[in-house]
Amino acid sequence: MLNFVLLNYFLFYFHRKEVGYKVSKGDNFTLSISKAEVDLTPEMIQSGSWKTKTFKEYNFDALGVPPAAGHLHPLLKVRAQYRQIFLEMGFTEMPTQNFVESCFWNFDSLFQPQQHPARDAHDTFFISEPRVAKDFPMDYLYRVKQIHSEGGHGSQGYKVDWKIEEAEKNILRTHTTANSARMLYRLAQQKEFKPVKYFSIDRVFRNENVDDTHLAEFHQIEGSVADYGLTLGDLMGIIQEFFKKLGITKLRFKPAYNPYTEPSMEIFSYHEGLKKWVEIGNSGIFRPEMLLPMGLPENVSVIAWGLSLERPTMIKYKIDDIRTLIGPKVNLQMVYDNPICILDN
Ligand code: PHE
Repeated sequence: MLNFVLLNYFLFYFHRKEVGYKVSKGDNFTLSISKAEVDLTPEMIQSGSWKTKTFKEYNFDALGVPPAAGHLHPLLKVRAQYRQIFLEMGFTEMPTQNFVESCFWNFDSLFQPQQHPARDAHDTFFISEPRVAKDFPMDYLYRVKQIHSEGGHGSQGYKVDWKIEEAEKNILRTHTTANSARMLYRLAQQKEFKPVKYFSIDRVFRNENVDDTHLAEFHQIEGSVADYGLTLGDLMGIIQEFFKKLGITKLRFKPAYNPYTEPSMEIFSYHEGLKKWVEIGNSGIFRPEMLLPMGLPENVSVIAWGLSLERPTMIKYKIDDIRTLIGPKVNLQMVYDNPICILDN
């Protein structure tokens, strides 16, 4: 140990270097400190003082101030992912920019009876101004009236009076299936039927009591495929393919009821965390009572499914109260801090 200390001492001693500095006044030597100018001002130009001033050099390596805006909300990030999946599968996005819809497109065209409880003010927001819509394709409206009140195409209909006054009422749309109805009607007006795949992801409104899992407005993800002779097998297959792209493979279907689809199926997936089957969507084959009055060929079927955007977003971002996801209780820091959405597929 002593040897080691001595060795170090000798090494330091014999390798010592001496460094000296000589300091003298340079050309710019001054006893007053002047600050270099940062900005060239109009006054300097007017007085000509800029000629004698020294200016600070630009620092092109300085980092900019991060902008305070420009963060995407988690719902928008998850929406982008779902959109990508639909586009990969060859679907076309439907126009859904109308939040206000008539009862005709939201309910009647979908063969939802005028006495259906969902049309009640407890479930639907009615618009007071403009209270009613007027621009309907009248020949189609008449065929809708016919199928509701008298039946046709082998269906009995509802055998109740169908009133245009009910159909004209403006509401906030309760589902984007209203947009699917508009698009399928438009498709039926084309000279020659061509198979289509449509999707949309947009906002819908329901007059619900708000709690930690319900809001009076939320987003629906909706897909539909129209082609000759599609079956329940096609519907289950395409839903399986869609959810596989989200990393969800354990699916179950449960018979359900929708006024506009037959058969109808709720979609369940096995949640590994909760160790149980949870409902993730609704689906079905649109009824002939909806499609034939539109004018679609008899052998064309349309399969469709829908799910909410909020539920997968809450799972993905571990948010347990929907009111902290949208609405006045949203914490903006949550929006800034959350990473982009990459669904585990
Ligand atoms: N419109 C349904 C809903 O609001 C979802 C759905 C879409 C069901 C298409 C069947 C077919 O829940």
